[in-house]
Amino acid sequence: MSNARLAFVDLTGGYGGAIVVRGISGNVRAGEVLCVLGRNGVGKSTLVKLLMGHLRCWSGEILHTGTAIQHLECSARSRYGISYCPQERTVFDDLSVRNNLTLMGDNRDLGRFEAYFARFPILKRRLKQQAGSLSGGEKKILSFSRALSEGKGVTLLDEPSEGVQWENILHMAALINDSKRAGASMVIVEQNLEFAETIADRYLVLDQGRVVLEGTRRDLNREDLLSHLHV
Ligand SMILES: Nc1ncnc2c1ncn2[C@@H]1O[C@H](COP(=O)(O)OP(=O)(O)OP(=O)(O)O)[C@@H](O)[C@H]1O
Ligand SMILES: [Mg+2]
Repeated sequence: MSNARLAFVDLTGGYGGAIVVRGISGNVRAGEVLCVLGRNGVGKSTLVKLLMGHLRCWSGEILHTGTAIQHLECSARSRYGISYCPQERTVFDDLSVRNNLTLMGDNRDLGRFEAYFARFPILKRRLKQQAGSLSGGEKKILSFSRALSEGKGVTLLDEPSEGVQWENILHMAALINDSKRAGASMVIVEQNLEFAETIADRYLVLDQGRVVLEGTRRDLNREDLLSHLHV
């Protein structure tokens, strides 16, 4: 864990008085994807909200290259190079596609999106349109591209493939693997095992707010993973 880019230790949190994430630990290194798997409602999104700071941790630690960040607001975590693509309400509907892409960046130059436009030409064609005019899958692609291009170290993606057609899921996988080669770290929540298998280095499988299975892609067999994904 000492060489982890992002580590979380015994993380606990929830909503109001209801505990959802119950003492979860994990980590991700540079150039690595940690895939968080599990059925509906087991706490996957809650875990990434805790990591980004959208929810306060009740207890536990989050370490960015060894520095505790669990007490910081989201904006301060962004300055540590952490970016986040939520599962729902992924884009600002009233803003243009262009403004959605460049909103959080240091400059408004589109040069850094060339690799994304090559994979997702619709983004380039619709730059001036309101993001609200995009389909659900297109919004996911926009939010994915914004978060992955922003990530200066750690990107948190919550079910990026949900509602996206398979051809574009493969483009997402290619962009994720390019980012890995460039040294990025990603925590990616997924329910689509076929997609997860093309990007994951390690898995963290949750059930009822706890880790029930973890290991490298080689360590874990498909049947065990599937048994925690389907009812
Ligand atoms: N804002 C909220 N207020 C209260 N309870 C919530 C809230 N968001 C989620 N929950 C509850 O927390 C539990 C875990 O939800 P979470 O969204 O983390 O699950 P998930 O694993 O991401 O599920 P899914 O696969 O459906 O996205 C669920 O029981 C859910 O009803
Ligand atoms: Mg979720």
